[in-house]
Amino acid sequence: MTKGPIRVAIIGTGRISDLHAIEYLQNPSSRIVALCDRDPDLAASKAKDWGLTDVAIETDLDALLSRADVDLVEILLPHHLHLPAALKAINAGKIVSLQKPMCVSLEEADQLVAAAEAYDRPFKVFENFIFYPPVLKAKALIDEGAIGTPLSIRIKSNPARSATAWDVPPAANAWRQKATEAGGGPLVFDDGHHKFALAWHFMGEPDEVHAFIGDTEGPGGIRFDAQSQISFRFPGNRIGNLEIVYSPDMELATRHYAQDDRVEITGTKGIIWINGGHGRLAETPPLALYRDGAMTEYRDIPTGWEQSFVLSTRHYLEALQNGGPPVLTARQARQILRFALAAEESARLGRTVDLRAEGGSR
Ligand SMILES: NC(=O)c1ccc[n+]([C@@H]2O[C@H](COP(=O)([O-])OP(=O)(O)OC[C@H]3O[C@@H](n4cnc5c(N)ncnc54)[C@H](O)[C@@H]3O)[C@@H](O)[C@H]2O)c1
Repeated sequence: MTKGPIRVAIIGTGRISDLHAIEYLQNPSSRIVALCDRDPDLAASKAKDWGLTDVAIETDLDALLSRADVDLVEILLPHHLHLPAALKAINAGKIVSLQKPMCVSLEEADQLVAAAEAYDRPFKVFENFIFYPPVLKAKALIDEGAIGTPLSIRIKSNPARSATAWDVPPAANAWRQKATEAGGGPLVFDDGHHKFALAWHFMGEPDEVHAFIGDTEGPGGIRFDAQSQISFRFPGNRIGNLEIVYSPDMELATRHYAQDDRVEITGTKGIIWINGGHGRLAETPPLALYRDGAMTEYRDIPTGWEQSFVLSTRHYLEALQNGGPPVLTARQARQILRFALAAEESARLGRTVDLRAEGGSR
């Protein structure tokens, strides 16, 4: 790697690349030097939107990876391409940031963990929700003992409608509707990764997972895996759940996906609520804490879904400069993937999946 800013290439300049670009564009320690997408017009339009005048545009992954002027690749491809693209990026000697979920099966994850751990350069799986400022604040409060020992986490994903949401191109929905490309449903497996990451972040790995996964028509005729209810049991008599409900006629405020996300964590002596993620329901405080008979609202926390991307990317750039592990490591990402796959498996089999058993969720 040369001295000076880390030279970044974004691979897959689709819907979500706009939020990844923000920190790379504004952080003095990075510079976007190349964009790769099989659709060169899309990549060129992103270069224009992001004010990049001297960026290389490639349509072929191998050509992009052979470029000596690229230090770090941000891989933002459909899920079935994550494993081959990440392995190629490792073989090409690049610093890697691979979008969640790391891949689509535990067999693939094992390959990726082995390759990442044998690699002498940094490898990150990008999970942003745990960098969302209200989540960071909640974690800090919990680590200070604000609610005692956390006993339960309740997570709600609530897609709805929003006049202010961004456009999601049909192509970004099309591959998500194919199990062979997405690896699982759009709300339980894809967006669900963020929710399983939150449960893992606050409570650790579960012992058992049980899921009911529904099926309903979403906007534009796409299928949503809602209404769904997924329960988890953690060691030490602690529990949690993820409830996914699609409210087609409920309006909410967002600049990104038309979805609200809410979290309630109950401890031995108090409760924390995180209100909002992708979207907001009116003027609810981003964070609230109940303990000792009093409610404290935290309203001076930055919100906006893009903040989670900015802070996750900033954390990686700092780790690259100062040392320290990325968040997530490949091994951590495998734990979260296993959690999500256990939910899919439970619904398929109609029974609880015991992750303590050998082969659980395979
Ligand atoms: N962290 C988050 O909150 C979040 C949100 C949305 C999406 N994502 C993730 O980001 C990734 C991309 O999602 P998206 O919504 O931007 O999808 P998208 O379909 O909008 O973008 C994918 C891009 O990859 C390009 N592409 C596909 N195959 C290619 C190939 N072989 N070579 C080069 N380019 C190719 C497509 O042309 C498209 O532009 C997925 O892994 C998804 O899970 C994460």
